[in-house]
Amino acid sequence: MTAKIIVTPVFDLIVFGASGDLAARKLFPALFRRDLAGQIAGESRIFGISRSKTTAVDFRHWVKQRLEDYIPASERTTATVEKFLSRIEPVTIDVSSDQGWSDLSARIGDQPERVRAFYLAVGPDLVEPICRQIGKNGLASPQSRVVIEKPLGKNGREARAINQAVGAVFNERQIYRIDHYLGKETVQNLMALRFANVLFEPLWNSNHIDHVQITVAETLGVESRAGYYDTSGALRDMVQNHLLQLLCLVAMEPPLSDHGDDLRDEKLKILRALKPITTNELDSVTVRGQYRSGVMGQEAVPGYLEDLGRESSDTETFVALKAEVKNWRWSGTPFYLRSGKRLGHRMSEIVVSFRPVPHQIFDHSAGRIHANRLVIRLQPDEGVKLWLMIKDPGPGGMRLTYIPLDMSFAEAFGVSVPDAYERLLMDVMRGSQTLFMRRDEVDAAWAWIDPILEGWRSEAIAVKPYVAGSWGPSSAVALIERDGRSWHDEVE
Ligand code: BG6
Repeated sequence: MTAKIIVTPVFDLIVFGASGDLAARKLFPALFRRDLAGQIAGESRIFGISRSKTTAVDFRHWVKQRLEDYIPASERTTATVEKFLSRIEPVTIDVSSDQGWSDLSARIGDQPERVRAFYLAVGPDLVEPICRQIGKNGLASPQSRVVIEKPLGKNGREARAINQAVGAVFNERQIYRIDHYLGKETVQNLMALRFANVLFEPLWNSNHIDHVQITVAETLGVESRAGYYDTSGALRDMVQNHLLQLLCLVAMEPPLSDHGDDLRDEKLKILRALKPITTNELDSVTVRGQYRSGVMGQEAVPGYLEDLGRESSDTETFVALKAEVKNWRWSGTPFYLRSGKRLGHRMSEIVVSFRPVPHQIFDHSAGRIHANRLVIRLQPDEGVKLWLMIKDPGPGGMRLTYIPLDMSFAEAFGVSVPDAYERLLMDVMRGSQTLFMRRDEVDAAWAWIDPILEGWRSEAIAVKPYVAGSWGPSSAVALIERDGRSWHDEVE
């Protein structure tokens, strides 16, 4: 099956942090793939802003090497790479000074009809100076938009300051706050599943759903990002944004439409309905962990402190939480969230666990009846499984068995799933903000997270060690088992 391509308007993309890790791993490969697919309009240009002086030849060569690192050889040819590279021009700017801005302005020229997108792939401390300079140099045209990456600060107060700085130059309609989880294929499919089928919606409430689990498990450690990560931790790095966004998509009411603000309005209501976690609950409904050395596959891997190169750190690389949405639909249905680095498998999934059947008509010899589960797998193998009880085939009386109705998207459609950044970058150019976070969503997410962070600090709730390659500290298992439930990986 061939995916449908809608060509973007002609754009100038100005990437700040163009020689950084995000640009190398995600942005340039995503743009290359979209160019290859014919989605990028002919005259579009990409300006790579970095502090160190470089020539067009050298910068293009560097991008070419990154494409070789991140795009399989079978997907590129010299001609397609050269065509893409010809769109790219480097510009040297020291963003904290006045130098280089007039050069950028001259290079962009006066082209008001073009979409002009500023992508800020930089640390949060550079967002304000960059926006100020964009404003001061008159670079923000009516067709401009700005893309900002997480982390949007380390708490609600810092996020508000960043939002204010960006808001001084761009209006909310021009601001695209990326949460790349919203661009993942299966996340989109979650909406299709809920709102393009009649089957689930009548059951989608606490009368029929016992609980929901959201797991984002990574096998990687903090790698070269230890410096940043140690100022963040899993709660800020993953839960405040990605996991809460997933929770919203599962829990929200049907939006009026899937565009404009309709979706974001519904997500916001969920964030506001999250029951605050109080200080005296912290020990029973939250778990913080930090990985120690271990063996993953056949390979011995270092612990977090070795990765960090320090003797001590109280930063969590794992978090598990029990969240509750206090509204009519979800009262009594907990949402268990967990995310961590150096866990047993790379696996991100949402598990919707239905309530058991109300009455057992079969003899004990038929076996146990497990409750239905809908498992939405985000990665690595995108798909949906609906776990059902069926009769074990063949003679021998009624014996029941629990098996999944299994739909793997890649197999079913035979198309490769685009990376989230591919979709989101194209949405920026097309001016679609639906899959980006609005300012009030960010505020509401921090309003729930801030007291947890503050409680961990004031109550000195320390990180619990876990061995790399395990599923986190044992208290994460206890967190869910105390409620008579278990994590999905232990059931399957
Ligand atoms: C990022 C986090 O937002 O998401 C990283 O900062 C994390 O720490 C990454 O590794 C996970 O993204 P994905 O798409 O690989 O699941």
